[in-house]
Amino acid sequence: MQKTVVSGIRPTGNLHLGNYYGAMVNFIKMQEENRCFFFIADWHSLTTHPDPTMLHSNVKNVLAEYIACGLDPQKATIYIQSDIKEIAELYLLLNMHAYLGELEKTVSFKDKARKNPNNVNAGLLTYPVLMATDILVHNADFVPVGKDQEQHLEMTRNYAQRFNNKYGTDFFTLPQPFNFGQELIKIPGLDGSGKMGKSEGNAIYLIDEPKDIEKKVKRALTDSGVTEFNQPKPDYIENLFTIMKVVSSPDVVQHFDDLWNRAEIRYGDLKKQLAEDIIKTTAPIRSKINDIKANDEFLSRIIEEGADKARQSASKTIKEVRKLMGVR
Ligand code: TYM
Repeated sequence: MQKTVVSGIRPTGNLHLGNYYGAMVNFIKMQEENRCFFFIADWHSLTTHPDPTMLHSNVKNVLAEYIACGLDPQKATIYIQSDIKEIAELYLLLNMHAYLGELEKTVSFKDKARKNPNNVNAGLLTYPVLMATDILVHNADFVPVGKDQEQHLEMTRNYAQRFNNKYGTDFFTLPQPFNFGQELIKIPGLDGSGKMGKSEGNAIYLIDEPKDIEKKVKRALTDSGVTEFNQPKPDYIENLFTIMKVVSSPDVVQHFDDLWNRAEIRYGDLKKQLAEDIIKTTAPIRSKINDIKANDEFLSRIIEEGADKARQSASKTIKEVRKLMGVR
């Protein structure tokens, strides 16, 4: 039976390899056989108060990047979150079932609050409720995301279950995280840190020129080299292998792994191969992005058609939720 799939990306900049392998690769495959909703989470990005002009152009960039990666508006519903006002209403209603204690314990909240102590706003606190709304508003079965979103998904299931229990219904489906490779993926940064991210400044973007990709990979953190056989890899070297596992063929990964185990690896060769294989993935996408971005009329049409389709689905849900909660 056809499953409902929902996922989104914040328009805080261009898409990077983490977004691509954590989310986009799954979006593209899933649109073939499922009822898919893929959106641009512009309300979510407001928690960090982006420059309004930048936000507007980032929404357009990400939409062009979605299409260039292979998302097809004929197959999936592609829309901008803020076009669907039903989401704001459902967010308000679900907030009544989200408790302060659990919101304060969310890892992403604690992390952002620590990094930006002067901007711990209520939108940041209730970020997981808005994300749950995005998913529940279409009653999703599956949510293709990277590993960083696992906790948010767990909270979404809690809210769905809590709502169902409270109103004696089975209206909300409990959505599952999804990755075609089974395990949720985390693409690391090039600076030895755990996660590739826009705000971490350690990302390779789909739009990057080949020479910039070469430069970034060349600068990735390494050390003076391994001198003994079969040593465990330090995190920053393991990270390069993790990226290699998604962009390169298994025999290339095996080759460098063998060199590592024989203590014969030359980081220069590893990086050259890694850059080459990243460019193989990104180059065809990059050229499409630039063509699509130039076509405003085409983008506007996709936005309008996507909003119509998403609104139809969201308004069915909100009508039912109002009824269940007793709101006329
Ligand atoms: P965002 O915008 O940070 O990232 C979008 C998608 O990319 C994945 N991702 C990664 N995957 C693997 N390794 C990485 N280094 C990496 N960085 C990002 C994320 O897991 C995500 O799938 N809260 C979400 C946006 C959102 C959403 C939703 C997603 C809002 N509502 C409803 C799914 C369903 C976010 O900030 O993702």
